[in-house]
Amino acid sequence: MKFTKTLLAGSAAIALSTSAFATDLEVTHWWTSGGEAAAVGEFAKAFDATGNKWVDGAIAGSGGTARPIMISRITGGDPMGATQFNHGRQAEELVEAGLMKDLTAVAEAGKWKDVINEIGLLDSCTIDGKIYCAPVNIHSWQWLWLSNKAFADAGVAVPANWNELVAAAPKLREKGMVPLAVGGQPWQTTGVFNVLMSGLGGKDLYLKVYDAKDAEVAGGADVAKIFSALNDAREMSRGSNVQDWNQATNMVITGKAGGQIMGDWAQGEFQIAEQVAGTDYSCLPGLGVNELLSTNGDAFYFPKVDNAEISAAQDKLAEVLFAPTTQVAFNLKKGSLPIRKDVDLAAANDCMKKGLAILAKGGLVKSTDQLISPDTATQIDDLMTQFFSDESITPEDAQKRFAGIIKSAD
Ligand code: GAL
Repeated sequence: MKFTKTLLAGSAAIALSTSAFATDLEVTHWWTSGGEAAAVGEFAKAFDATGNKWVDGAIAGSGGTARPIMISRITGGDPMGATQFNHGRQAEELVEAGLMKDLTAVAEAGKWKDVINEIGLLDSCTIDGKIYCAPVNIHSWQWLWLSNKAFADAGVAVPANWNELVAAAPKLREKGMVPLAVGGQPWQTTGVFNVLMSGLGGKDLYLKVYDAKDAEVAGGADVAKIFSALNDAREMSRGSNVQDWNQATNMVITGKAGGQIMGDWAQGEFQIAEQVAGTDYSCLPGLGVNELLSTNGDAFYFPKVDNAEISAAQDKLAEVLFAPTTQVAFNLKKGSLPIRKDVDLAAANDCMKKGLAILAKGGLVKSTDQLISPDTATQIDDLMTQFFSDESITPEDAQKRFAGIIKSAD
């Protein structure tokens, strides 16, 4: 799907307003859970402190709901001042259509290349040598969150890895608990699959499938083991009956579920619930098997506008998002790792410390958002949603369809 260049002329000014002292910028994002809202509030506070005004454009629902709205506004000549996308290829076609602002000058002035924690994230912002986004965090999907209370109530030890969770599931069921909470949105069931692939299959298998896009491997014996584990996950998730990811996290927080595979943005919810890592909940990076983190996370992009004041305010916002003080305030509340290596998250909790240790050892792998196109990602979302909602689909059936998707993946 290619976007045609849209005449931005006067239309952009309609969406944004300026005054003699401050420029209002409408910023769109999908951070609407308790933890997310607390974190994005730190961005707004830092931008307002520059004398400009953050006009919050939160879009409820998941990224899958928000991104089509963001894209249609930009391509339709009604752009916001700045918008969230994930690290990777989601804004690729908008940039190629010439609709997004070049931030290279801001990145060079701020020496982003010297301080960034993982250069691959800046590469994801770079097209034809120019930088088009301000990365703001490193999230990782590769986490299993466990309710210490649920396992105490079930009379079993808190699992130290995926296999121990599977073994403990019957005991959790006996006490009326859901062993694995999974929300009903497509990206969540795909997330479970991808974390099983990297956590149980390891970095090489994950990259053979998603980077090399090797359909033979995708249809082979090693990936068959991942689909068998996915079958266990499907069984353990029965009874979750929630849509949003943070509702599933809340099942862990309240001890109604034993665990949840979810990105470390879940930490924001534990924090809002005043739960303490290690005491109230446990966290297993890489499912306690292959300690890997994926470079998921978020970056802000800025639609091109033909208004000097707004353009200056956009540059200022990009600078503020990357600033050390903003990075600490935001990431501590978001549960993510900072994008720059020269900030000290002294207040990091046990789980974030585990993540920082893996980051320091270079135990990183590119996220699927960085490796496959949005179109391919959507096909996988559809397959995983169907697998979780239709028990007549066997793991073998699902794997055959998955190999076909990888064969034509871009
Ligand atoms: C991800 C995003 C995270 C997050 C999560 C759930 O795509 O990178 O920041 O909050 O969605 O909304």
